[in-house]
Amino acid sequence: MTYISSRLAAVKPSASMAVSQAAKALSAKGIDVIDLGLGEPDFPTPAHITEAAYQAAQAGDTLYTAALGTLALRKAIVAKFSRENGLDYTTDEIIVSNGAKQIIFNALMATLDDGDEVILPTPYFVSYPEMAKLLGGKPVIAHCREENGFRLTPEILEQAITPKTKWLFLNSPGNPSGAVYDEASLKALGAVLERHPHVLVLSDEIYEHIIFDGLEFISFAKACPQLKTRSLIVNGMSKAYAMTGWRVGYAAGPLPLIKAMATVQSQSITSVCSIAQAAGAAALEGSQEHIRTFRDAFQ
Ligand SMILES: Cc1ncc(COP(=O)(O)O)c(C=O)c1O
Repeated sequence: MTYISSRLAAVKPSASMAVSQAAKALSAKGIDVIDLGLGEPDFPTPAHITEAAYQAAQAGDTLYTAALGTLALRKAIVAKFSRENGLDYTTDEIIVSNGAKQIIFNALMATLDDGDEVILPTPYFVSYPEMAKLLGGKPVIAHCREENGFRLTPEILEQAITPKTKWLFLNSPGNPSGAVYDEASLKALGAVLERHPHVLVLSDEIYEHIIFDGLEFISFAKACPQLKTRSLIVNGMSKAYAMTGWRVGYAAGPLPLIKAMATVQSQSITSVCSIAQAAGAAALEGSQEHIRTFRDAFQ
């Protein structure tokens, strides 16, 4: 007898969360563990960000916000995309959710019909295929080889695309391999995608600032501007600002997609915590000095 939905039958709980719980349990016993499960900075949130949250709470910034997110945070995100990525978006093309994870979930919820395919280059973040399955999609695994630095090649992408493909997921810098796509390799993938106008691209750029060895990050939408209107650029506060628990992620994308994601959001969570959003705006607008400190320590 089961009363659990058939949608959940093929879905596994998050393996990275499970391994991190196990690591925390060992730590609690006094064992010195380096936890490589969750991508979680072992720094506290910078003090000016926590202070901004405190001030917001004191000032009565404690009400529901717009489903898309507060205008103040969306303006800070628009400025971030312009400043750091050379990308122009309007505040209507931005949405804020409970972490990049919920952004991805909402994007799939808003777009997948049963049997739609989601191309996942290996190795991938554990949640991608499970979210796709939960929402009726079919993960299509694109095997990336070590000799290619665990990066998707145009040939492998071409072979993976079918008439049922809805999304290609890209993740650079990638979890768990650390693979980084340079401009030329993104452009080469973009050339394939131009031949397949039905394919959307989800570029998970959450590790933008966790990049080593002097490598340079470039956003997919910057490398392939001709595909910007079918690309969802996903990012968030968790990694660069040591804010995993605040749950603030965001995305930029085409208006119809962002609107559909806002509908999902308005009928599920209403909006992200107002105080966490105030902290997010302070993070993006304040000093970025800590990012170098974090990166040097992680390297
Ligand atoms: C590739 C990737 N995307 C998204 C996330 C989730 O980030 P958030 O905390 O913003 O939900 C993670 C977290 O581990 C990740 O590794």
